[in-house]
Formats: sequence, structure tokens, C-alpha cells
Amino acid sequence: MTQKTQLTLAQIMLPHQANLGGNVHGGEIFKLMDMTAGAVCQQYANTTIVTARVDDMRFTNPVYVGDHVRCTARIICVGSTSMDVLITVDAENLKTGEEWRKVASAFSTHVSIGGDGKPKKVAPLVIETEEQRNLFALAQKRRADYKSREQIDY
Ligand SMILES: CC(C)(COP(=O)(O)OP(=O)(O)OC[C@H]1O[C@@H](n2cnc3c(N)ncnc32)[C@H](O)[C@@H]1OP(=O)(O)O)[C@@H](O)C(=O)NCCC(=O)NCCS
Repeated sequence: MTQKTQLTLAQIMLPHQANLGGNVHGGEIFKLMDMTAGAVCQQYANTTIVTARVDDMRFTNPVYVGDHVRCTARIICVGSTSMDVLITVDAENLKTGEEWRKVASAFSTHVSIGGDGKPKKVAPLVIETEEQRNLFALAQKRRADYKSREQIDY
């Protein structure tokens, strides 16, 4: 059976999500990102999922009230009980018909939780394409990097 490793959620941005200038709050975009990443991991692992880490959060273009925002989360690496996800967000203005513009991206790590409340094993990720191999290698590098910083207690 083909593994489900990608999921997209979309929303129209509303006034209560923005400041008085009509710019959507970063937290609203982040919430959509966390929800999308959690959903793809839930679909993959078929368990309860918690977020353990979010890295390299970037907001690259503003988002405005009325924009159609689309968030895609893709599992790029799987450990024993955790999954690393690449999250990307783009937006379009429905009135002008402009091209989709990239507005945000991040990496996150989510842990599968079993019925006993403890981390539960997930199936290994099947890597088939060159792109998947490259993203897996990138995630492995990121894992080694953050594990080397784990000793620092902020
Ligand atoms: C995430 C959590 C379950 C990890 O628990 P833990 O007792 O540290 O579990 P473990 O040490 O066995 O680690 C489990 C996995 O999580 C990974 N992990 C734990 N903390 C991590 C972190 N800060 N960053 C990245 N990965 C992490 C481990 O590397 C391990 O991965 P692996 O099994 O694939 O090798 C626990 O810290 C927790 O519940 N945190 C709060 C989560 C939460 O409430 N999130 C916000 C709302 S969803």
C-alpha cells in the first residue's frame, strides 16, 4: 500500500485573524501549519500526535484578509516514534488572479503517542525518488544538528 506522506489544508483569511492594517497575524499562519503537519502525521501513524519541535520558521511574504492560503505538510524523515515534516505555505488573492506566492515555511517534528500516553513506534518511511532521498538527507542533517544542541537547557 502506498504511504500517505503529504496533506494540504486551505483557508480564506478573515478579519479577526488580522491586525488593523489587514495583515494576517503570524500566529494564525503558524496554527494552520501546526494543524496541517499534525494531520499528515496522524494520517501516517494512525495515532495521537504531539508537536515536539518547530525549526527554521520563515515568513517570506505578507498575507492579507481575503487571501486564499494553502498549507502543505510533507513527511520527509521518520525515526522510531517521531516524524520530521517540511511545511510550506502559499497564498493567492482571489480578486486579482495573481500567481500563488510563497508566504511561509518551517520544519517540525511530531511524536506518535500510544494509548498508554507514551511514544509509540511508527512505520519506517519508504524512500523511492531522488527528491525524497535529498529531503531525507536534509532531515537527517537537521536531526544531528539539533541533537548536538539538546544539552543546552533554555
Ligand atoms: C514530545 C514528547 C512526547 C517526547 O517525550 P520523551 O519522553 O522525551 O520521549 P522520548 O525521549 O522517547 O522521544 C520520543 C521521540 O521524540 C523525539 N523528540 C523528543 N523531544 C524532541 C524534541 N524536542 N525535538 C525533536 N524530537 C524530539 C525523540 O528524538 C524520539 O524520536 P525517535 O523515537 O524517532 O528516535 C514529550 O516531550 C511531550 O509530550 N512534549 C509536549 C508535546 C506537546 O504538548 N506539544 C504541543 C501540543 S501538541
